[in-house]
Amino acid sequence: MSTIVNEINELRKQKNAIILAHYYQVPEIQDIADYVGDSLGLAQQAAQTNADMIVFAGVHFMAETAKILNPKKKVVLPDMEAGCSLAASAPEDDFRAFLSKYPDYKVISYINCTAAVKTMSDVICTSGNAVQIVESFPKDAKLIFAPDKNLGGYINRLTGRDMVLCDGTCEVHDILSTEAIIKLKKENPDAKLIAHPECKAAVLELADFVGSTTALLNFTSHDDSQKYIVATETGILHKMQQASPEKSFLIVPSDETCNCNDCPYMKLNTMEKLLKALKNEQPAIELSEDVIEKAKIPIERMLEISAKMGLIK
Ligand code: 13P
Ligand code: SF4
Repeated sequence: MSTIVNEINELRKQKNAIILAHYYQVPEIQDIADYVGDSLGLAQQAAQTNADMIVFAGVHFMAETAKILNPKKKVVLPDMEAGCSLAASAPEDDFRAFLSKYPDYKVISYINCTAAVKTMSDVICTSGNAVQIVESFPKDAKLIFAPDKNLGGYINRLTGRDMVLCDGTCEVHDILSTEAIIKLKKENPDAKLIAHPECKAAVLELADFVGSTTALLNFTSHDDSQKYIVATETGILHKMQQASPEKSFLIVPSDETCNCNDCPYMKLNTMEKLLKALKNEQPAIELSEDVIEKAKIPIERMLEISAKMGLIK
């Protein structure tokens, strides 16, 4: 075992720390994590952990969510610059001004938003429970879905709703190339196309299966195809390949000029930074008591609905 892995193992035992990692982390981090999952699974793990410290190998809004659920615990993020284009698309003041135009609307916010936006939301959702969260409202409810217009549009089409959408996108999923997918499908007629709902509508319409990162992984593990065209971030291939070593996975390129399906924020975390964060207990997430108190309500509502629907245990 490498020195760095040994050091991380030693320190996490000493400090009773848990390492939570998203599927978009580099393989070495996924391999050392106590839990690897999608945003819903990670929020659930954060809500349930008995550890004294959480090392969040993901992006800022995820670590913030873990802090909101564990105000007394230390939550560290190996690189504080690990942001998210969706969270950045809804700055606090702009979001407040946007909501003021819809005073009698309920607000469903995708977990990919800041703690400040969460304080202004009625309920949070992830890509793993968005349909069920939206369907928990009466059919005629006036709803705002923020900040991902691709996921919101997809849920509108699935549920026949007409939610007001914000103008945010995931900079990784939104630019996956439809032309490249069509080309890959022609070259690989035996492959199924699987896509994350953060992709634009034109991609989702072509997909054989649409789901959260965990749902995509589960689909490839249980489905009987041997080949998949994967329209999401590259990190998930590690677990897909581990779960189904005999199958092949083709990642969808973004466009001819760039291979941008590595999330630049997720990939800021490295083993070295993780070790440093564990050792120094820095950089740590700090939030005011007021924000924690208000942001906790819609997150806990999401977890309650998800548990009731059997989406989490
Ligand atoms: P899920 O983890 O819900 O699949 O979302 C993917 C993502 O882009 C997280 O930032
Ligand atoms: Fe945000 Fe997209 Fe990166 Fe996920 S993949 S953290 S949604 S920019």
